Amino acid sequence: MEEDLPSLMITIAIAKGRMQEGALSLLSSAGIRLSEEALNSRRLALTDESGEYQFIFVKPADVPVYVEHGIADCGVVGRDVLMESEADLLLPLDLGIARCRLVVAAADADAMAKVQGMIRVATKYSQITRAHFGARGIPVEIIQLSGSVELAPALGLADMIVDLVETGTTLRENGLTVVEEISESTGRLVVNRASYQLKAEEVNRLVQALERALNGAQ
Ligand code: PRP
Repeated sequence: MEEDLPSLMITIAIAKGRMQEGALSLLSSAGIRLSEEALNSRRLALTDESGEYQFIFVKPADVPVYVEHGIADCGVVGRDVLMESEADLLLPLDLGIARCRLVVAAADADAMAKVQGMIRVATKYSQITRAHFGARGIPVEIIQLSGSVELAPALGLADMIVDLVETGTTLRENGLTVVEEISESTGRLVVNRASYQLKAEEVNRLVQALERALNGAQ
């Protein structure tokens, strides 16, 4: 007689910041919950109430790294981060959370036509920026920053920025306007290639629970 094998634990890397609340709320709708005590703690690795899932909370750009290396089986992270990363991951689900846009912004909506010489673009997203302008044959100098990118044009560091916009408040309050949209971004579930094979049952159970929660939310 075949014996039931115990479930293998699934580790999920969750991007800290804008993604975290929506990710935890969706996982909770899917029946995967953290205790109040765990939620209120500052621990960066937590086990859910069922003991089947471990959550690790990491910087958004590190989610693809943890998942590609198999430290986490799955991850929840924005499409913007995945576009910037070169990690080889499986992408089974658009979670529809933390919806925002990646845009080119400047002080003047006509900035593209007005800048003389090489356009200087400040951004956290150097790969996306290079690809976006490169595809149109526009040479740019990329100024890599790691945050507060909206400051760069006013201080004379750059002519434009490429950054995320959600409500538009940060752009507006820093005297910037959208010049063009590059793409939309929402939270995605990503899966490590080996985990998809070796923990197929557990990964499928997670994907199906999330799909049911997403369908229920519509
Ligand atoms: C993002 C982005 C903008 C801001 C946009 O930063 O870089 O600064 O949010 O949001 P808004 O349109 O609602 O004002 P995030 O908070 O993700 O972190 P960061 O400052 O570390 O980049």
